[in-house]
Amino acid sequence: MKQYTIKSKVRDIYENPLGRDVIDKLTLQMGMSEKRFKNPLFRGLKLATLRRFTKKKVDAGFWDAVLALLNSASDTTVGRSSDAAHKWWKESVFYQIYPRSFYDTNGDGVGDIPGITAKLDYLKDLGADALWLCPIYDSPQDDNGYDIKDYYAIDSTFGTMEDFDLLLSEVHRRDMRLIMDLVINHTSDEHEWFQQAAASPDSKYRNYYHVRKSACGNPPNNWTSFFSGPAWKPLPDTDDWALCLFSKKQMDLNWDNPDMRQDVYKLIRWWLDKGVDGFRLDVINLISKTPGLPDGNDFIGSLMGFRGIEHYFYGPHLHEYLREMRKEAFDPYDAFTVGETPGIGIETGKLLTAENRRELDMIFSFDHLEMPGKSRFDEYTYDAAFLKTHFTRWMKQYGNECRMSLFYDNHDNPRMLSKIDPSGRYRDKLSMLLAVIQFTLRGTPFIYQGQELGAVNMPFHSIDELRDIESLNLYRELIKTMQQADALKKVLSGTRDHARVPMQWDASVNSGFTAGEPWLKTVADGYDAESQLGNENSVLSFYKRLARFRKNNDAIIYGEINILETDSDIFAYTRKNGSEEIYVECNLSPEQINRPTNRPPDGEMVLSNYSIDAGNNIMREYEARICYL
Ligand code: NOJ
Ligand code: CA
Repeated sequence: MKQYTIKSKVRDIYENPLGRDVIDKLTLQMGMSEKRFKNPLFRGLKLATLRRFTKKKVDAGFWDAVLALLNSASDTTVGRSSDAAHKWWKESVFYQIYPRSFYDTNGDGVGDIPGITAKLDYLKDLGADALWLCPIYDSPQDDNGYDIKDYYAIDSTFGTMEDFDLLLSEVHRRDMRLIMDLVINHTSDEHEWFQQAAASPDSKYRNYYHVRKSACGNPPNNWTSFFSGPAWKPLPDTDDWALCLFSKKQMDLNWDNPDMRQDVYKLIRWWLDKGVDGFRLDVINLISKTPGLPDGNDFIGSLMGFRGIEHYFYGPHLHEYLREMRKEAFDPYDAFTVGETPGIGIETGKLLTAENRRELDMIFSFDHLEMPGKSRFDEYTYDAAFLKTHFTRWMKQYGNECRMSLFYDNHDNPRMLSKIDPSGRYRDKLSMLLAVIQFTLRGTPFIYQGQELGAVNMPFHSIDELRDIESLNLYRELIKTMQQADALKKVLSGTRDHARVPMQWDASVNSGFTAGEPWLKTVADGYDAESQLGNENSVLSFYKRLARFRKNNDAIIYGEINILETDSDIFAYTRKNGSEEIYVECNLSPEQINRPTNRPPDGEMVLSNYSIDAGNNIMREYEARICYL
């Protein structure tokens, strides 16, 4: 295996898939141009020279950290295939449900499983083929179910196992599929394994977690948590600490322990025996950690916002564990997997999803959710033209053997509509434009509940209105050094609660979500499902037409893509499969612009978010159109 040293050249690093992703990520975070890496002179530089040039900004340990990461990554070949295999999950439109906020049937103010069953006809009518449910397992709900206490039980907040069985059979009866959220990087501290691990150093469950001693009353290393503060929790009455990268009630599992892994595979098989069709794997790229859990580098920590990340976002045994899990748990059932993989870029994404490598089917990469150099809690306006830059790279590089997931919204991010158009002036047009891109690029669309209604951020006014642990912890941290009003502003720029507010079903009290007191503020801004169902021109009706069009169109599902060279505000491409060909043209700006001169001759119009006058050479604000060629 090739070893990298400080004498290696920039070119060598860039030729390694992980090296390329790391460089891309750094340039993105630092808001630098990637053009520099295309310059042969720059590529010929030795790292030692680069280290000298960047001495003022970058600490010496940074280069060692990058080299150690590259040297730990073996197994860097993606096989090539000329043709993509046909699979149901490539043809499907997925719909993500946040059960707590979807629909409440018993008036306790929290959405539940019977509430999902009650809305299946709505989802089928929308054109959803597969549903992804955020966690419904038994949990203390410290992180809304991402802290699982018992993988084999349903949380009573959401209902019973009978409710779940009924939901699953009703989904299948409608020819739809259902995937579960699987949280196996960590468990709740109330999970029996952790309870036993904490109770006795001799328990076999000690080694199911990362428990370490610390000599001086400090955490065993300098890693920080995604939810503020150190990533360690002290065990009572000892100097033992357990690793927790998220909340203090989410304890990281030790994947280097084969017994632990077998217990995880067992629970996966148990759900597959029930008939679920697959899983979304929570932060699955974090499961393998650098042996010995060494300190993280400060520069990387400050750049990425979390210290220690280089020791687990792409750990040394990641591929090995994914393959083992697939072989032992998923493949016998032909189950589908999509990995949530924060920090993973295109090249490493290929290593995780190329069909012949037998690891994951798809991943969620997050590089398009913020503009270069920005992070979620920054207040800024997102330029939709960046979506073109991002998607073009993925479309060109991801290859035939990998399938991209296409999404803008989920339960961990503010709404994309509000990032691009905080005023809401172009709410309908922009919703439809984003949907056109999402449904016609090469990949599988994931809609997040409410997106099909044009849902935007919630105008929260006080910290008391928020419920999310990440936001509350961050606020507490920020007010140590900031005015409360400034801290609130920052938290509101990125809070996950924007996307977690209850669905707007109708214009009645609590937007038809609950007959009780809702767990989080409800919205009533006229963008509800009932009124949109009765309106041909609504965002919802547009989504329905798009989903139907996509379903019957092999050019979109399996066809090749050709992106036209145009002005950066225009995203124009053709999709082609055999004799079937379509043309998509989008104006990514809130200005009128000229249509591209190199466009193909106008064909039959399929869909547009404006009514089109033939022969018009102008594209209006955020205009999008799809035509047959
Ligand atoms: C990602 C989930 O989507 C998020 O909601 C959760 O807080 C973390 N993983 C931890 O499980
Ligand atoms: Ca309920």
